[in-house]
Amino acid sequence: MAKKKADVTDLRLASEGKKKILWADRDMPVLALIRERFRKEKPLKGMNIGCCMHVTSETANLMRTLKEGGASVALCASNPLSTQDPTAASMVKDFGISVYARRGESVPVFYDHLNAVIDTKPRITMDDGADLVNLLHNKRAKAAENIIASMEETTTGVIRLRAMEKNGILKFPVIAVNDADTKHLFDNRYGTGQSTLDGVVRATDTLLAGKKVVVVGYGWCGRGVAMRARGAGALVTVTEIEPLKALEAVMDGFNVCPMAEAATFGEVFITVTGNKHVLRAEHFRKMRNGATVCNSGHFDVEIDIPALRKLSKKVIKGVRVNVDEYVINRNKSIFLLADGRLVNLSAATGHPASVMDMSFATQALAAEWTAKQGKKFDVSVHDVPSKIEDIVSKLKLQSMNVSIDRLTKEQVTYLSSSGEGT
Ligand SMILES: NC(=O)c1ccc[n+]([C@@H]2O[C@H](COP(=O)([O-])OP(=O)(O)OC[C@H]3O[C@@H](n4cnc5c(N)ncnc54)[C@H](O)[C@@H]3O)[C@@H](O)[C@H]2O)c1
Repeated sequence: MAKKKADVTDLRLASEGKKKILWADRDMPVLALIRERFRKEKPLKGMNIGCCMHVTSETANLMRTLKEGGASVALCASNPLSTQDPTAASMVKDFGISVYARRGESVPVFYDHLNAVIDTKPRITMDDGADLVNLLHNKRAKAAENIIASMEETTTGVIRLRAMEKNGILKFPVIAVNDADTKHLFDNRYGTGQSTLDGVVRATDTLLAGKKVVVVGYGWCGRGVAMRARGAGALVTVTEIEPLKALEAVMDGFNVCPMAEAATFGEVFITVTGNKHVLRAEHFRKMRNGATVCNSGHFDVEIDIPALRKLSKKVIKGVRVNVDEYVINRNKSIFLLADGRLVNLSAATGHPASVMDMSFATQALAAEWTAKQGKKFDVSVHDVPSKIEDIVSKLKLQSMNVSIDRLTKEQVTYLSSSGEGT
């Protein structure tokens, strides 16, 4: 039987999706400039690129850019709940991209879709959480021989890949796009910060002013979430396990305490650690009636949902869209948002386009660099070259009409010499 070139929920949603893609594109000027150059120069000519990323309007604009560069592109979802069905339909119908993603797909279908992308024989892959790379290291190891390199978009993915490198099991080169400053300093902080709260508010309609919000983890994402929650008037507490991060949170003016304590007073809990079971039975037991728990870290393991289920007398699914009520007893319920999956992508539409402009401009240029390098990379985790980061930051500033100063000749000399002192 011929393999399907795409598998989306409903192609009739394409016109709605196209509007969303073009709307996002207005806020992605750097990517648009790169796309225009790619259209003329075709740096990715003949390259099959297989991607496993959140299927959003911003991702659609990255896929368009790769295609304009001459690549043949196939995309599946990096999370079963983050797919925007209209966007997926439009990518297939209007932009000729093979998309395998349906919002709410089961885990077996999720893996069928990953396999469908690998069936297109990619030479470059783009991952958001290393699921494609994992498959290429296990069940689909044969297809790994074809790979020049794989790009990784998120912290959790890079952590896994560095572990594979350390354990000597990494089979092909990886580019840690997440670790580029033009990515995590902006996307993880400002993107996750704003869109996570957007997800919480869309799901619950809650008033953030005066709300006791507990942010679990004060990394790049946690800093953004805590900063934006405070901006909305919430009383923010941070929990951490690293002394330096905890100290930073204290000096940024947040209340810091262990989760065992925060659990007793928090009203909204947001996990962004990339770790497992940071909210668990001992914490649910202490929570007040009406506590709302959600996650914005990559995987749905940050909240111990099986333990929450075990503690509950019953679970009422869908008390609102993306909200389930876990009834602990007659006097206490805990609300879980979006099944514990990334709340910003499941209950809202993910990061605003303007910030994804930087992440995806970095991805597009990293793909071009990779295609140029060909098989020259050694098998390890590589950083994005600073030259690419310079281009992206300069173009972004230009698009915002912001100019900056240049070093004078005297300053260049001063900064490169050690002669002058007190
Ligand atoms: N929602 C999104 O759209 C989105 C965007 C970017 C990244 N992510 C994901 O968010 C997660 C965090 O990313 P990041 O870039 O902030 O990572 P990071 O490494 O900068 O920060 C994670 C922080 O969590 C802390 N932590 C770990 N275990 C903890 C525990 N038990 N209790 C409290 N704190 C704990 C760590 O000390 C660290 O400071 C990752 O899974 C990443 O892939 C999500």
